[in-house]
Amino acid sequence: MSQNIETTYNYRVVRQFAIMSVVWGVIGMLVGVVIAAQLAWPELNLGIPWLTYGRIRPLHTNAVIFAFGGCALMATSYYVVQRTCNVRLFSDRLAAFTFWGWQAVIVGAVLTLPLGYTRGKEYAELEWPITILIAIVWIAYAVVFFGTLAKRKVTHIYVANWFYGGFILAVALLHVVNGMTLPVSYLKSYSVYAGVQDAMVQWWYGHNAVGFFLTAGFLGMMYYFVPKQTGRPIYSYRLSIVHFWALIFTYMWAGPHHLQYTALPDWVQSLGMVFSLILLAPSWGGMINGIMTLSGAWSKLRSDPILRFLIVSLSFYGMATFEGPMMAIKTVNALSHYTDWGIGHVHSGALGWVGFITIGSLYYMIPRLFGKTQMYSVKLIEVHFWTATIGVVLYISAMWIAGVMQGIMWRSVNEDGTLMYTFIEGVKATYPYYIIRVAGGLLYISGMFVMAYNVAKTAIGGEAVNPVIPAPALAHA
Ligand code: HEM
Ligand code: HEM
Repeated sequence: MSQNIETTYNYRVVRQFAIMSVVWGVIGMLVGVVIAAQLAWPELNLGIPWLTYGRIRPLHTNAVIFAFGGCALMATSYYVVQRTCNVRLFSDRLAAFTFWGWQAVIVGAVLTLPLGYTRGKEYAELEWPITILIAIVWIAYAVVFFGTLAKRKVTHIYVANWFYGGFILAVALLHVVNGMTLPVSYLKSYSVYAGVQDAMVQWWYGHNAVGFFLTAGFLGMMYYFVPKQTGRPIYSYRLSIVHFWALIFTYMWAGPHHLQYTALPDWVQSLGMVFSLILLAPSWGGMINGIMTLSGAWSKLRSDPILRFLIVSLSFYGMATFEGPMMAIKTVNALSHYTDWGIGHVHSGALGWVGFITIGSLYYMIPRLFGKTQMYSVKLIEVHFWTATIGVVLYISAMWIAGVMQGIMWRSVNEDGTLMYTFIEGVKATYPYYIIRVAGGLLYISGMFVMAYNVAKTAIGGEAVNPVIPAPALAHA
């Protein structure tokens, strides 16, 4: 690595977060495969309490969202903000604190969740001492990010930074409001909200965790790495600004779609449904903006597997954000809720969108962070692309079929009004699809192992073995 780059920018913290994103990705998805297998073969918990499904399911969600996704978001946001503002991070020390602090949060999750300590709120399970640590690390992250923006050497703030900034501010707000809790011991606390208000706050948080943690931050990645890897500017800069404001405004109101047909007032449920339908527009606007960046250069998709990861991620984003508004319609939700359709929707977003955009961005960054011209093996990126793609397709199509089947079986009634199927008949009919999901998960995780090997070889090894992709210009965005 040239001395110049290393002294101009803080690449050390970016490297640390990027490597840990791969490591936590492998671990989190491995736990995903284990719980998928447990749903098919429940005896796989081996009778050990801390290996039971209820305890390691939140370990999976926390590890993939906050450890794999979180490290990737921090790595890329630190990289992008430095490159586009033409300055080093605001504070190296504070940046190092965010790295070690975030790893401490993750280790805290890995230790407490299997032991059964939980606040019982989905995606906000971690008990109050860890919740406080998250808030402190997040404030430090905000100071580093916005401090870097403040001392930028260019007047314009590139749109990717708006998305990262929106994500950082919104997650702080969500975390603090939903994290309000009354501790009763070192590892037990109760929410300050009660009943339907508690549910409302939880799903305002839960939905916006999707909207800001799993979407806005990753759109920041999209707006930097898609143009970079394509070697062309974003299709419409004007659309990207409209996209930003429309998306962040609309997401905040859609949470009640998680609580259709509950004790929540009916008008609030309808409000959630309407805003979810509106959300289709900014989501697709952003997706089209990303994909059209490739306009006139589609042939690059044939030879460049990194670009393929980035562009296919946008197709999955389009699918998930079409499906989501449909599922928010009350009559559709009456069928889809509680079924595996929801799990299929989650993973078309999680594996297809979040996973692919992260993988593509990491493949772009890693060689540059370690002073190499490109990844150790482009062939292996190709292998990764196909195993991951087949893996996602198997996973989500199995869940869609299983979900719709479950919904229909549960609502089928005989002429005399009695249920046509017992619950266990639905479970038995689902069994083959659970096995298909395990196969999809195994394919996806094997791609992650290939990536870990390729990244390790790139980081420690010598020169590239397979120079096929011409490296796009390294100029600032
Ligand atoms: C090898 C890859 C993966 C496998 C095999 C896998 C498997 C699973 C399984 C079996 C569940 C529980 C489903 C249920 O309770 O019925 C689950 C839940 C979940 N997973 Fe994954 N997963 C994988 C990757 C990911 C990734 C990369 C993300 C996010 C970036 C993710 C996010 C989630 C979320 C948010 C849930 C909770 C869904 C809900 O409550 O509706 N997963 N996963
Ligand atoms: C326009 C955008 C979207 C809308 C309107 C939307 C809507 C919905 C709806 C209606 C549900 C089912 C709620 C229920 O019946 O319980 C849901 C669940 C979920 N969606 Fe989306 N979705 C969108 C995009 C996405 C994306 C891109 C992701 C992932 C990156 C995602 C992740 C999730 C997760 C994790 C859940 C499960 C929450 C839980 O019950 O634990 N969604 N979404």
